[in-house]
Amino acid sequence: MMPTVVSGAVTLRNMDRHERREKRSGPAGQAVEWDARYSERDGARWSGRPNGRLVAEVAGLTPGRALDVGCGEGADAIWLARSGWTVTAIDISDVAVIRAREAAELAGAAVEWIRGDALQTPFPAVSFDLVSMQYPALPKAAGRAAVRALLDTVRPGGLLLAVYHDLDDEHREHIKSQGVDPADYVDADDLARLLGDAFTIELYAVQPRIDPPPDNPHIADIVLRARRR
Ligand SMILES: C[S@@+](CC[C@H](N)C(=O)[O-])C[C@H]1O[C@@H](n2cnc3c(N)ncnc32)[C@H](O)[C@@H]1O
Repeated sequence: MMPTVVSGAVTLRNMDRHERREKRSGPAGQAVEWDARYSERDGARWSGRPNGRLVAEVAGLTPGRALDVGCGEGADAIWLARSGWTVTAIDISDVAVIRAREAAELAGAAVEWIRGDALQTPFPAVSFDLVSMQYPALPKAAGRAAVRALLDTVRPGGLLLAVYHDLDDEHREHIKSQGVDPADYVDADDLARLLGDAFTIELYAVQPRIDPPPDNPHIADIVLRARRR
């Protein structure tokens, strides 16, 4: 069962790493884990600014319908909405979506927020002009068909923009020491393979991170931009 945010925040803060690992299996466990991460701080976890790579890639496009997968605290979805896009944004964390809604209200931005698992939510196929995944953390355990269904939501002519951290061995070991193995998550190579013949890959490269938050280590981005045929 999902914890309520107020009581959950206290409980989740007190959860040790072993308990978190135990609870992480399956979508409900992932939600608990992400709620715990967001609840580690009373204030925002992320910077509140849209991701620089999204802004750089999308600013020149004609707005249409966009899906923000793993929207976190909502800065990208809010930026898209304020740039003229009709935005649906989904995140598995209740805490994140509540913060995103509040930020959108303050910004006067209209976004359809969904608290849910992007790999279990039946979005209509070929319905988005842009599907954005900024630093996604989609578990491989959900299976390839679930990821393919998400990719299938991109309209012909529309874009998938997926951006990942370009982790070196040291970063991977650090993340593993926190109880999370990056190998358990769909990475850029996995996603590129799953695109199959339905997409043309326009860009798949390591690029410097644009406008990183000041307290962030300098990890480059892996940028995957693909257009639906
Ligand atoms: C590294 S954060 C990135 C957040 C945001 N895109 C950003 O760039 O600030 C990954 C996000 O994915 C969300 N997430 C993880 N698994 C998910 C799933 N199966 N469906 C939807 N969101 C998920 C997490 O709650 C978290 O907010």
